[in-house]
This record gives sequence, C-alpha cells and structure tokens, in this order.
Amino acid sequence: MISEVKTDLSAGVLTVTLSRPAKKNALTNAMYAALADAIQRADTDQDVRVLLIQADGEIFTSGNDISEFAAQSAGADAEERHVMRFLRGLASTSVPIIAAVQGKAVGVGTTMLLHCDYVLLGDDAELMTPFVNLALIPEAASSYLLPQRIGYSRAFEMFSLGEPVSAESAFAWGIANKVVPAADLHVEAKQMAVKIAAKPLGSLTAMKRLMRDSERTLAQIDLETGVFEKRLQSAEAREAFAAFAQKRQPDFSRIR
Ligand code: COA
Repeated sequence: MISEVKTDLSAGVLTVTLSRPAKKNALTNAMYAALADAIQRADTDQDVRVLLIQADGEIFTSGNDISEFAAQSAGADAEERHVMRFLRGLASTSVPIIAAVQGKAVGVGTTMLLHCDYVLLGDDAELMTPFVNLALIPEAASSYLLPQRIGYSRAFEMFSLGEPVSAESAFAWGIANKVVPAADLHVEAKQMAVKIAAKPLGSLTAMKRLMRDSERTLAQIDLETGVFEKRLQSAEAREAFAAFAQKRQPDFSRIR
C-alpha cells in the first residue's frame, strides 16, 4: 500500500485514508490502484465487514490528478489505468461502504459518494462536479445515479455549472445521511462503521445487492468511459489541462 493511501483494519472496519494533502488529495493512478486493492480486500478478507473511506487534510479530495489527465490526453501515458478497477469495484462490492467527507469533494470525490451506503459530511463539506470546466463528462455512473438520487434539475445544475453544493443541501437532497461538526467527523464515522460492522454481514450484503442495481450501474460506467476517453483527447480538454497547469483561466472561445 502506498503512503498516499493508508489502511487500517480494526473492529471489522477497513479504514482507507487518502493522504496527499500537499496536492489536496488529488488522485493518482497509484492511489486508484491502492483504493481498488482495498475494495478487493474488503470483498475477500473474512475480517473486513465494513469499508470506511476518509481523508487527511483540509479537503476530502480535489478529484483526479489533472496532470495525469494531461499526460493521458497527450498519449504519453502508457501505464495501466487503475481508475476503472476502482470504479467497477465500488459499483459491484456488496460490503457496506461508509464515507467521511470534510472540505471540498471534487469530481470523483463526489461521484464516489453515490456508491457509498452511509455518507457523513463535515459541516464544511462542499460537493463539486466540475467536469464541464475540464471539457469532460461525468463518470462513475454519476450521469445515471445523480439524477436518479437528487432529480434531473439539480443534477443538471451541478454538472453544467460545477459549483459547490453545501453540506446542508447535499443532506437535504439525499446524497448524505448526516452532517456533523468537522472536528468530530472521523470519530463519528468510525463509530457508525463499528455499529454497522456488528450487524450480521450476510444479511447486510444480501440487502445491499437487492437495493443496488450493479448491472445497470456497470453498464453506465462502460457507456461513460467511451465518451470520457474521447473528451480527454479533445482540443477543449487539452486547453483546460494547460490552463490548470499554467494557473490561468481556459479560453475555449476559438475551439469549435
Ligand atoms: N490535480 C493535480 N493537482 C492538483 C489538483 C488536481 N486535481 N488539485 C489541486 N492540485 C495541486 C495544485 O496544482 C497545487 O499544486 P502546487 O502547490 O504545486 O501549485 C496544490 O495542489 C494546491 O492546490 P491549490 O489550487 O493551490 O489549493 P486551493 O486550496 O487554492 O484550491 C481546489 C483547492 C481543490 C479548489 C483547487 O486546487 C482546484 O480547483 N483543483 C482542481 C479540481 C478539479 O478540477 N479536479 C478535477 C475534477 S474532474
């Protein structure tokens, strides 16, 4: 396990902590690999009854590492991509997943929450899905799951504007179970994880399989992936990645 994703198993709870604070926990290929491995472990290790995803630092995650998007876009990146293994694992595991989110949860930081079964938000949490600002499209089956969860109008607004949604709104819209003071977030999340871990796991996993349509969700991930790959190669996306690296606003005005 790499140091930017820490894991700890206690009381049946496998806690996975994103820890790359200098880059606002931006997710790299190596971090996706570690996350995918943790889900695989939750599926196969008899001692894991609940998976808890949390993060160190002031924000949950700034989403996919944009320099890796840029490398993929330029075709320079021949590495095996682990993001799909992570997303497919998230969408298909029947082990209960709890998430604890402080500060901003950008891009996949928000879309992964739609696969979590109990979401706690710190009162400073802000959910953002600004794929459009990078000339990309929503992923992790969120193009299906978000409108289903919060209604088309709110989902369209989140995707098309990419603006932050407060913890209060996310709770009111049904993305989260509870909002707690940010200082108490990790303690409360662990308490809830331990509580759920004490329940009969066979019953929980059977219930989760009935509640979630993983086949439909996986099909949406496949659909999105084809479009996402094309968007990554677009002139618009290349301009957005260059602008981020150069710390300037993108200029899409001359790209048709
Ligand atoms: N990918 C790569 N690097 C990232 C990153 C990302 N998604 N998010 C932040 N970073 C890096 C910054 O480039 C900066 O690096 P530097 O110190 O070497 O210059 C460092 O992390 C700190 O980020 P900074 O922007 O200075 O922090 P902030 O507190 O002012 O803003 C965010 C935090 C999350 C609002 C801002 O970093 C941001 O918008 N990031 C991009 C989010 C995004 O579009 N993600 C993809 C979604 S699909």
